[in-house]
Amino acid sequence: MAPRKTLLRALAGEVLPVPPIWMMRQAGRYLPEYRATRAQAGDFLSLCYNSELAAEVTLQPIRRFGFDAAILFADILLIPQALGADLWFETGEGPRLSKLETEADFARFAPASDVHDTLTPIYETLRILTRELPAETTLIGFAGAPWTVATYMIAGRGTPDQGPAHTLKRENPALFDALMERITEATIEYLSRQVEAGAEVVKIFDSWAGSLTGDDFDRYALAPCARITAALKARHPGIPVIGFPREAGERYIGFAQATGVDCVALDNSVDAQWAAEHVQTTGCVQGNLAPHHMVEGGDALVRETRAICQAFSAGPHIFNLGHGITPQGNPDNVQLMIDTVRHGSD
Ligand code: CP3
Repeated sequence: MAPRKTLLRALAGEVLPVPPIWMMRQAGRYLPEYRATRAQAGDFLSLCYNSELAAEVTLQPIRRFGFDAAILFADILLIPQALGADLWFETGEGPRLSKLETEADFARFAPASDVHDTLTPIYETLRILTRELPAETTLIGFAGAPWTVATYMIAGRGTPDQGPAHTLKRENPALFDALMERITEATIEYLSRQVEAGAEVVKIFDSWAGSLTGDDFDRYALAPCARITAALKARHPGIPVIGFPREAGERYIGFAQATGVDCVALDNSVDAQWAAEHVQTTGCVQGNLAPHHMVEGGDALVRETRAICQAFSAGPHIFNLGHGITPQGNPDNVQLMIDTVRHGSD
């Protein structure tokens, strides 16, 4: 039977008169109700592992805006934590992890099959959501791509140029490859359980793919994404996968064929017209309004939103931002974006 939910229809290649819409970081600090629930949980990580409250914050933007998809509330850095890394969040600064620098550090990590010990509450969040989401809303699971996760594990934090990961890759390729392999295996286990728990689509976030060039892009962005996608589709035939090789530039061309993903998520540095001609020709694309419009709003938001819908109107398209909404985003502007996508808004 053909899927009826609009997001699944777009992922299957259907061209819809109005694209389905959701928003990266749609559950987040720009919403007062999110901040209240996070305070109730204590902190961000406690919220991720509290299945009831994580389901609640996943539902908040669905109730408020009626998005076509809900994305599981969790984080890409739960995988390193489940493998044994220390993880904490410095308020106002971002994530901190124990660094992976030596073979001895790596030897302390758990095997991939052990990640469920830590991640079981995440599967419970998904099970709650399968019961509580409106019938027309698609449930998206996710994980970080191995390269992006590795950059945080190696540096112990976010880095502007992923320098420490590039250095380890060059100076100790055996250790770097072993780490990539472990993350890849753990990600397959994690996403597979997410699908069993009710995720109808999974998205692989390679936020730092843009710093991989040439053969490195093939080996560390394309190959792991292809392996995860193939393994998931083997275990769960027909499960749609969205790939997000952020800032991949020209390497967006051919990404879907090289990896087997059903949809490519475009960041906002990509020109929509160019992407319609070079990327959407082979399947569904997602994106790609710049997040600053959620802060600024106004005519520019309406103009850009219309231009993106127009550029992608001849092929399958899921409307989204090109990256996550920031804490300064204004919920009124989110509503204006949605109205513009759905009704053209004047
Ligand atoms: O999109 C959603 O609403 C679903 C939940 C989600 C979060 N993180 C919640 C979150 C998803 C899909 C992510 C993915 C994620 N996490 C990525 C890939 C996408 C991207 O943004 O490039 C990355 C790189 C991370 C790692 C991470 N988590 C960082 C660097 C930070 C700190 C920066 C920041 O925005 O605060 C986080 C924290 C985080 N993850 C928050 C949320 C809602 C904010 C934490 C808080 O509430 O204080």
